[in-house]
Amino acid sequence: MSLRCPIVCVLGHVDHGKTTLLDKIRKTRVSQREAGGITQHIGASEIPIDVIKKVAKDLLGMLKADLKIPGLLVIDTPGHEAFTSLRKRGGALADIAILVVDINEGFKPQTIESINILKQNKTPFVVAANKLDLVPGWNSKDVPFVLNFNEKVQHPNALTEFEIRLYNNIIKPLNELGFDADLFTRVEDLTRTVCVIPVSAKTGEGIPDLLLMIAGLAQKYLEDNLKLDVKGPAKGTVLEVKEERGLGKTIDAIIYDGIARRGDYIVLGNPDGVVVSRVKALLKPKPLDEMRDPRDKFKPVNMVTAAAGVKISAPDLDRVIAGSPFRIVPKDKIEEAKKEVMAEVEELSIETDEEGIIIKGDTMGSLEALAKELKKRGVKIRKAEVGDISKKDIIEAHTYSKINPLYGVILAFNSKILPDAKEELERYSNVKIIQGNVIYKIVEDYEEWIKKMEEALK
Ligand code: GTP
Ligand code: MG
Ligand code: NA
Repeated sequence: MSLRCPIVCVLGHVDHGKTTLLDKIRKTRVSQREAGGITQHIGASEIPIDVIKKVAKDLLGMLKADLKIPGLLVIDTPGHEAFTSLRKRGGALADIAILVVDINEGFKPQTIESINILKQNKTPFVVAANKLDLVPGWNSKDVPFVLNFNEKVQHPNALTEFEIRLYNNIIKPLNELGFDADLFTRVEDLTRTVCVIPVSAKTGEGIPDLLLMIAGLAQKYLEDNLKLDVKGPAKGTVLEVKEERGLGKTIDAIIYDGIARRGDYIVLGNPDGVVVSRVKALLKPKPLDEMRDPRDKFKPVNMVTAAAGVKISAPDLDRVIAGSPFRIVPKDKIEEAKKEVMAEVEELSIETDEEGIIIKGDTMGSLEALAKELKKRGVKIRKAEVGDISKKDIIEAHTYSKINPLYGVILAFNSKILPDAKEELERYSNVKIIQGNVIYKIVEDYEEWIKKMEEALK
């Protein structure tokens, strides 16, 4: 029997420290390289069980059962308010979750939104009460929390301050949302009470406690729900479509169930139909590497067992977009798989208006986020598409600017202008392109452009 690797989703309000926490565990620096300091895609990385056992070696006695899972597949999500759909997608994949809350700031809108997603999916979770190092007077060190939480190490005032913040900022709001919650060392019944684990992503304090709790709970959850055995075709979701030298278009994906085999068929769903191709190569990222921003090359393998992050190389992936669901199946299962992915695809499209502007994005998730921000401001969107800016987009924007000059704009998140589109653009000075790699910056630039245009049109 092959033990399944549980999927752990990290959720929480913007800047409460999700990516930094994972960086500390992985010894990576992903958060420091993010545009605008915010996460705008779903990330994935594998934490092998050996690493967890090593980090938590002083605490293994706390656990009643042996750890049998092969590790954890950790999904990082954006906390910025625009990315509801990515949080939902991450949340839907998760077996178990870590809700990251800044212990000093407490609950914020996306903390509550995250909890609602967890409630909807009935996903068990723990709370990582982060930024413990910023509690006034707290002496934070790279040690387990249980070894640092006593009068010998902490000043009485710091302990008081900690208890106040823990209660007011974390436990009380959880109670108000209907959850019983307590500091994990005080929890007796793990099935009834939400464990709060104080951590500092900056110093590393509490990370052993967090990893051990989450590994223990994930294993128990999988066992109780008989989800330990992996079998059947692979089910997955596309994170990103990438051009790779020597491989052409490839997809970075998460396989959340089943087994993928090289040579089998991949059936992907897009808003405009189903793509069937044959898996030429399966490539696995190195353990502890963030798939979005790996330090090392991916390794070719013949088989991938859920849950895992994987790069897939196959011909004809041109029309595939990020966010697409897929199956990897033997030939005789293709038809069945087609029906399944089509059913999932229906959620993928963005509602558009009769007239309005054009928006482009590098993934379905970022496109949805951009659309959401614009709709909130009453902006009409006529076309929302994943991909680079094409000649056709320019001509359309030009045509629509005739109806209304304010429609002569294309907003593009992480999308390039294709060469022939560039040529076209030179002919149409009335078409404006606003590009960027930070969603809210694009929206700001757009609003500024609108202002200028309205001035000019007066
Ligand atoms: P989004 O993905 O954009 O929602 O943010 P995030 O939750 O991933 O937070 P991120 O890791 O980007 O951290 C936000 C800021 O908080 C960064 O400047 C971090 O250095 C800082 N930070 C994170 N954790 C800690 C911590 O434990 N202590 C202190 N002092 N700062 C922290
Ligand atoms: Mg982040
Ligand atoms: Na951030």
